[in-house]
Amino acid sequence: MINFIWAEDNEHHIGYKGKLPWYLPNDLKFFKKTTLNKVVVMGRNTFESFPGLLPNRINIVLSRKTDLVETDTLKIVHSIPELNNLLETYSEDIFIIGGATLFSELYVNVNRLYQTKINNTFDGDVVMIPIDYTHWKLIETIPGIIDEKNVYDHEFRIYDKK
Ligand SMILES: NC(=O)c1ccc[n+]([C@@H]2O[C@H](COP(=O)([O-])OP(=O)(O)OC[C@H]3O[C@@H](n4cnc5c(N)ncnc54)[C@H](OP(=O)(O)O)[C@@H]3O)[C@@H](O)[C@H]2O)c1
Repeated sequence: MINFIWAEDNEHHIGYKGKLPWYLPNDLKFFKKTTLNKVVVMGRNTFESFPGLLPNRINIVLSRKTDLVETDTLKIVHSIPELNNLLETYSEDIFIIGGATLFSELYVNVNRLYQTKINNTFDGDVVMIPIDYTHWKLIETIPGIIDEKNVYDHEFRIYDKK
């Protein structure tokens, strides 16, 4: 199963200056719980937005450059065909975790969407790809809990391809 997982605001912003536009620890927890022990696939920019490898997950990074060094849990691929060949070797669920470039290139392959909708507008310079939701069935909505650390109204939505 190939999944997308991302968070967006009311303007579909997903990134700003190489990072997330917001701080919402509930979303980070949801992301961790959902992707733990799975395979995560990301573009080079998203990889560089993290302090390091995402632990307890196979990390696959797409880059056209050759400077990244592979380890047991970090796989580097240089093209979509190379990525698709590698993904065939895993039985675990695959999570495409961004950014916009990856979502655009891999949209044809995806079966399930995990969208965190943040009901607010932030400065952003990377926007989620347009998605025609008439092709998707909303199967679950989980309200986000607002508290002193999670100040933005948000909900987690899961869609399956119709
Ligand atoms: N809100 C969210 O859920 C979310 C999720 C993910 C990311 N983000 C944010 O989004 C931003 C990054 O997104 P982005 O769209 O700028 O970048 P990105 O998709 O993370 O990475 C783009 C890079 O990936 C590599 N790449 C992409 N397609 C490739 C292909 N077919 N073959 C080989 N390499 C390929 C290239 O790296 P090289 O330049 O090394 O060749 C390219 O420059 C950051 O602000 C991040 O924080 C937000």
